[in-house]
Amino acid sequence: MTQDELKKQCAKAALEYVKDVPVVGVGTGSTVNFFIEMLADRKADFEGAVSSSEGTTQRLKELGIPVLDLNNVGEVEVYIDGADEVDPRKMLVKGGGGALTREKIIASASKKFVCIADQTKLVDVLGSFPLPIEVLPMSRSYVAREMVKLGGQPVWRENFITDNGNVILDVHNLEITNAIEMEKTINDITGVVTNGLFAMRPADLVLVGKGDVVEVME
Ligand code: 5RP
Repeated sequence: MTQDELKKQCAKAALEYVKDVPVVGVGTGSTVNFFIEMLADRKADFEGAVSSSEGTTQRLKELGIPVLDLNNVGEVEVYIDGADEVDPRKMLVKGGGGALTREKIIASASKKFVCIADQTKLVDVLGSFPLPIEVLPMSRSYVAREMVKLGGQPVWRENFITDNGNVILDVHNLEITNAIEMEKTINDITGVVTNGLFAMRPADLVLVGKGDVVEVME
């Protein structure tokens, strides 16, 4: 199977988790885009979706799925999103598409976070994928210097502005031995909006597209 076929496979498996829920949280990325297409066939069965990015909002609307404001829906029953890396504890690196802050907000506000990932995303230790950090534009150089002190090599994602009007630093070569500590430490740097480690709020379930089967990590 190609990687896209694996993405479709885990996206399809996620449909099982959106039965009988009024509101679905929807993440961002190419794996989620397959999910959105499949979700559209079920749009009569739920009220609408809470979206994690402008890109996802546009796709949802194009397919006739109502987009709801998180402030008006309370707790979200289930959130479906992809990942750039998944470790055995279901901790993740996310933000390859730059939507990490809104993704983390919806993940935190959701009862169940179902991550959909093809098998290439599985790692033993997080950090081979450069860690995205969303920062306020004026703090970019300062945060970059602080990340060097933490052992990383930050690279400014040039010509990219987040949906929140901020910029992204992609931090290479970080040694993430304690993902929860690292997530907190980076979030404590002034000027950081959020970072792409999803360790304090990991996925509850990961559906891994493996070709012959979809493995469910619980
Ligand atoms: C976007 C994300 C995505 O979930 C992550 O980058 C995975 O994307 P894809 O499904 O395209 O591989 O965190 O900010």
